[in-house]
Amino acid sequence: MNWKLPMTLRIISSGFCRLEGKVAIVTGGASGIGKESVQLFAENGASVVIADIQDELGHQLAASLAPHKVSYHHCDVSDEKQVEQTTAFAVDKYGRLDVMFSNAGVVGSMEDILNLDLKAFDKTMAINVRGVAATIKQAARAMVAHNIRGSIICTASVAGCVAGCAPHDYTASKHALVGLVRSACCELGAYGIRVNCVAPYAVATPLVCEALEKGVDETEALADSCANMKGISLKASHVAEAALFLASDESVYISGHNLVIDGGFTVISRFP
Ligand SMILES: NC(=O)c1ccc[n+]([C@@H]2O[C@H](COP(=O)([O-])OP(=O)(O)OC[C@H]3O[C@@H](n4cnc5c(N)ncnc54)[C@H](O)[C@@H]3O)[C@@H](O)[C@H]2O)c1
Repeated sequence: MNWKLPMTLRIISSGFCRLEGKVAIVTGGASGIGKESVQLFAENGASVVIADIQDELGHQLAASLAPHKVSYHHCDVSDEKQVEQTTAFAVDKYGRLDVMFSNAGVVGSMEDILNLDLKAFDKTMAINVRGVAATIKQAARAMVAHNIRGSIICTASVAGCVAGCAPHDYTASKHALVGLVRSACCELGAYGIRVNCVAPYAVATPLVCEALEKGVDETEALADSCANMKGISLKASHVAEAALFLASDESVYISGHNLVIDGGFTVISRFP
């Protein structure tokens, strides 16, 4: 084993595929954290369905990876029918569903609470909470029907643990998502299905760069300046590694957990 190689390359060079034979859906898989996860899951032996609304990016990503093992399927998670069709697509094409990485999300409205736009609030909830509920429901149905002890992972955020670091809609939606994951875990344990969250600190993906109206370097510098962990920037690949752990059998007894990837950001009081 060459220990100078990064973890992912070490795993590949050692021939150890942590998702061999598994089938995964990654929502929001065309960009950012989802895109990194699609690549990492595929490198680790999984067949992957990229579920997103950015069709061109999704098709491009699928074509750039192993085409027989990675496919794109259009899926707006706020429409349950599309989630059901995407799940059926994965099962028809690859024979089963082992992993649902419910990662699609939006920042939503940036308004202050005195000017809260409730239509925008509903839209954020429709994607970040209702959309995730639809993915948990449809994935769990497919897993139960095929007697599969699957893993459902949802992307929460540090904004699901603490307030004041993101807009109101977003903060409320990610807190709700953590509750939803815990609640679903209570019921699905009876089927051997695990339900967990990954909760990242800021990563300079299109979602954050567009919200801040800043480029990648500037966004990353801003995130670094507010971070607890110094000397390293949080990247989408770090979040993908955490999702891979929760997707794999290495986490076989972990359920109802919110795996925070924040370098300690949420446990530090900012009181001077
Ligand atoms: N980047 C961060 O700092 C950060 C921090 C914490 C949590 N998150 C969460 O990570 C997840 C991924 O975001 P990202 O940062 O990679 O951003 P991103 O913009 O790069 O990716 C989000 C993806 O979700 C897709 N999407 C949006 N609405 C959708 C819908 N209705 N149906 C299906 N797909 C949809 C987008 O097309 C996009 O491909 C989100 O849930 C976000 O809230 C991000």
